[in-house]
Amino acid sequence: MDESGVRSTNRIIVFDTTLRDGEQSPGAALNVEEKLEIARALEAMGVDVIEAGFPISSPGDFQAVRRISQEIRNCAICGLTRARKEDIDAAAEALKPAAHPRIQTGLGVSDVHIRYKLRTTREGALEMGVNAVKYAKQFVEDVQYYTEDAGRADPQYLYQVLEAVIDAGATVINIPDTTGYTTPAEFGALIRGIVKNVPNVHRATISVHCHNDLGMATANTLAGVLNGARQVEVTVNGIGERAGNASLEEVIMALKTRRDIFGLDTRIDTRRIYPVSRLVSNLTGIPVQPNKAIVGSNAFAHSSGIHQDGVLKERSTYEIINPLDVGVPNSEIILSARSGRHGLRHRLEELGYKLDDEKFERVYQRFLEVADKKKTVDTRDLEAIVSDEAEIFFEETYQLEHVQITCGDHSIPTATVKIRGPNGEVYCDADHGTGPVDAVYRAINRVIGEPNQLIEFSIEAITEGIDAVGRVTIRIQADEPVNGEARTVFSGHGADNDIVVASAKAYMFALNRLIAARREVKEAAERAK
Ligand code: KIV
Ligand code: ZN
Repeated sequence: MDESGVRSTNRIIVFDTTLRDGEQSPGAALNVEEKLEIARALEAMGVDVIEAGFPISSPGDFQAVRRISQEIRNCAICGLTRARKEDIDAAAEALKPAAHPRIQTGLGVSDVHIRYKLRTTREGALEMGVNAVKYAKQFVEDVQYYTEDAGRADPQYLYQVLEAVIDAGATVINIPDTTGYTTPAEFGALIRGIVKNVPNVHRATISVHCHNDLGMATANTLAGVLNGARQVEVTVNGIGERAGNASLEEVIMALKTRRDIFGLDTRIDTRRIYPVSRLVSNLTGIPVQPNKAIVGSNAFAHSSGIHQDGVLKERSTYEIINPLDVGVPNSEIILSARSGRHGLRHRLEELGYKLDDEKFERVYQRFLEVADKKKTVDTRDLEAIVSDEAEIFFEETYQLEHVQITCGDHSIPTATVKIRGPNGEVYCDADHGTGPVDAVYRAINRVIGEPNQLIEFSIEAITEGIDAVGRVTIRIQADEPVNGEARTVFSGHGADNDIVVASAKAYMFALNRLIAARREVKEAAERAK
């Protein structure tokens, strides 16, 4: 401890909640394999704690926490609970195989939560919280306590709760600004107040969990750190409830770039930030806005002549971060069809992709197609191909073999598709629509017949120029819910030089995902019989 009462460790613990709070973003639902893949990437990047899910909330969440607990050995694995025995039982069970299990329990501390959500009194809520910590302690040593809506709570009551839960055994006290209401000065003062007024605070780590409703999640998190917090709760790309959570890449790069102010380190290998960002975006179907700090496609683009001139003379004139330090692929390194399998594999490994032979072969065939059309393939094209071909964590029931489109200002947009079905049979069908994408989707629907609505469609050019590879990300909503959780939204992505073909791939991706989820639910029900 230093004289201000702050824990003097100069290391920040990175608690990643992409798989829990992040997955609460509308339509971000991931299957167990996808969550496992993200957990592996987070472990390799060096996060300290992975909040893997809310085990009692669904069988899928329970399974995900269990599988991640079995496999990930270098991070603590955390399961969320309400302050209820049945929640804690489920979390303890799911976390059993973990090398470092942590249960996060807690409840609201603001009067609005206590009165309207919990329908109890301050005293009643405090007692529930203490009992939950004591109960969780019977299963695991590491118990984190969250004081929901702390940003709008009476600080005096918050201090009382914190002192009581630390006495009951909480090892980490989580201070969430659940509604993203506070400003950095206020939130920093809140943490300073905790350090000063909670007598046993030195026995626990202070964690900060900030939401982005007013766009201040990163600033509030850093204000918390400056005032004594030593754990930050973040998500990749800042995804999460409503406007999201503090973003991992922003908090980490602020700590690193402004080490002169913070004087604190993390275990994060920052060169993995960009690949993990892409992985999460592809699997959740939530695109990253182009101007997003650190990982947006424009984050290192200099368009004005004056800036370009400056950067060419000396990079640091307009760049405070070297893009290579966050793993943004160097667009100057290019490959051509002549590079061969060996050259491609070598480049992919440099980019952090270790593919098994089957996935590599798919990527290689796509690489040849793109190289044939574009002549040269840069690392951004390559990255799009990999995410398209390699990150498929479900069985593809239907495969798109061929798509042909006719359109123009004097013709009716018409599409013909050839699709291979589950038993190898080939279907060919055609339809017309209001535009080429509509025509393709209708033609695919005629073959697959899975009723749904297209609720989101976005397209971005990955590289510059007329021959750029385009990436399409979509979300569809199934007319029939897939399981008890009423999961209905599925995302898909696809990349191609032809944006209508990319759209068709994205749609097939989302449909196959939906069909795989239905099959999983059916198989689980049959096993349970
Ligand atoms: O925002 C919040 O308060 C939360 C808690 C459950 C930690 O996500
Ligand atoms: Zn939250």
